[in-house]
Amino acid sequence: ATAGEPQMRIGEGGETHQTAGGDVAVMTTAQGVPVSDDQNTLRQGARGPALMEDFHFREKMFHFDHERIPERVVHARGYAAHGYFETLDPIPDLTRADLFQRKGEKTPVFCRFSTVAGNKGSADLARDVRGFAVKFYTQEGNWDLVGNNIPVFFIQDAMKFPDLIHAAKAEPDRGFPQAQTAHDNFWDFVSLMPEAMHMIMWAMSDRAIPRSFRFMEGFGVHTFRFVNAEGKSSYVKFHWKPKQGLQSVTWDEALKINGADPDFHRRDLWDAIQSGDYPEWELGVQVFDDEFADSFPFDILDATKLIPEEDVPVRIIGRMVLDRVVDNFFAETEQVAFCTQNVVPGIDFTNDPLLQGRNFSYLDTQIKRLGGPNFTHIPINAPKCPFHHFQQDGHMAMHNPKGRANYEPNSWGGEQGGPREAPEHGFQSVQTEADGVKDRVRSELFADHYSQARQFYLSQTEVEQTHIAEALVFELSKVETNAIRERLLSHLPNIDDDLAQAVAEGLGMDIPVPAKAARERVDGLVTS
Ligand code: HEM
Repeated sequence: ATAGEPQMRIGEGGETHQTAGGDVAVMTTAQGVPVSDDQNTLRQGARGPALMEDFHFREKMFHFDHERIPERVVHARGYAAHGYFETLDPIPDLTRADLFQRKGEKTPVFCRFSTVAGNKGSADLARDVRGFAVKFYTQEGNWDLVGNNIPVFFIQDAMKFPDLIHAAKAEPDRGFPQAQTAHDNFWDFVSLMPEAMHMIMWAMSDRAIPRSFRFMEGFGVHTFRFVNAEGKSSYVKFHWKPKQGLQSVTWDEALKINGADPDFHRRDLWDAIQSGDYPEWELGVQVFDDEFADSFPFDILDATKLIPEEDVPVRIIGRMVLDRVVDNFFAETEQVAFCTQNVVPGIDFTNDPLLQGRNFSYLDTQIKRLGGPNFTHIPINAPKCPFHHFQQDGHMAMHNPKGRANYEPNSWGGEQGGPREAPEHGFQSVQTEADGVKDRVRSELFADHYSQARQFYLSQTEVEQTHIAEALVFELSKVETNAIRERLLSHLPNIDDDLAQAVAEGLGMDIPVPAKAARERVDGLVTS
């Protein structure tokens, strides 16, 4: 053997031993103790019992036994890559966010795409919403834009999220289907939640079976706020537009691809980046003020509605390029923790009740998923800018405060005293007024669930409309309970008569009569 190749030896049981030497590293235990034999446990006699004192075996097996961590409660199956965001059109008039101040400046990013409902091992081409989460490692902290490839959502209030996800995932008694919307519980729930109808139109459209991650749009969904250096705020919606174009597959293609290669989407991203064909997205913003918000027929805090691009054009302010695959899937893709509450000075929340619930949920779940409060110490989650705080201890603490002070205010000067507040450039919440009676009520502006569903359906080409009808027929044909199918069907005339007719015919059913009366009511209320 030449230097650099392991030496080989065959053991007494016929097993292969490869030994270190030259520049081949010596295997050690996790404690750094050199290992002499990695094939045989320590036994009392060749056929005798294994010995407790075999610390190499015990350490190796103990660690293996603990390799699994909980998968994400949603978006379990995902794939990620590194890259950068480049500011093309600085917007200091709109926001003081550091990453948007200087033309041509690049900010490192980590971007994870995902399906929502399927388990970690499910197939890539499921009909499902896709997650599109981007962590920007800015000079003033990490900003996470945790979006989807569809600009609206199923529900208006975070209170219903556990129900939505329970209904969408496997049914609790039978444990199937996984990663499929086509089952009674899902359609039962959404048929009882008219607010889901806009999202259902998108989820039944070709958008829900993308050709690959590289051909998807992304959306922040909620209305956020930009805040400039003077403290002036405006509303903002975020958009990712793929330079590769927008492409989907048909359902038949999706089925074949899932069968032939359930890893199709992750392989596509890996192959593209490894061959130097770096995928790219433009980041666009729709910015509007209170006056527009007040004149908009829906509530801008309602995540089941979008702001039409005809009303507020999308302004491109930068681009994201993904140019590096991960070194390690678990360390990076699995352990990354995106969190909607990770905002930076210049970006703020609105009172969207879905967004506010998310701000609690992500941090909460990650404490469990990543084993304690110190998951920001994992390199993929750590800021790339300087950071100093007095948080300490807990499981897996890697960076405790240095020196004597672990509190403030304190009497210690200089480095001993630790970090101090920055009233001028630290994060400040937008000053807003809140008034009202404490109650569990929703604004009336949240109440129209059909007109944007209709707008979306009518904006589709004839072929795309046919795909929506076919998807609904396919999905509802898997529903065993007739009453659920009927209830869902009864929503469709509120969206479009031809669609309702096509689905009813496909299912061999009649459109329920009360649905027609409801349609007339909606026609009187909304314009198409
Ligand atoms: C992941 C909760 C709505 C996009 C997650 C996770 C939770 C969660 C608990 C797993 C996080 C983890 O383990 O790291 C919620 C709640 C919602 C909600 C409570 C509504 C109240 C949304 C919406 C979007 C979205 C509206 C899109 C705008 C994502 C994405 C991920 C995710 C992209 C995966 C992040 C990753 O790649 O690690 N969500 N979610 N979620 N959610 Fe949501």
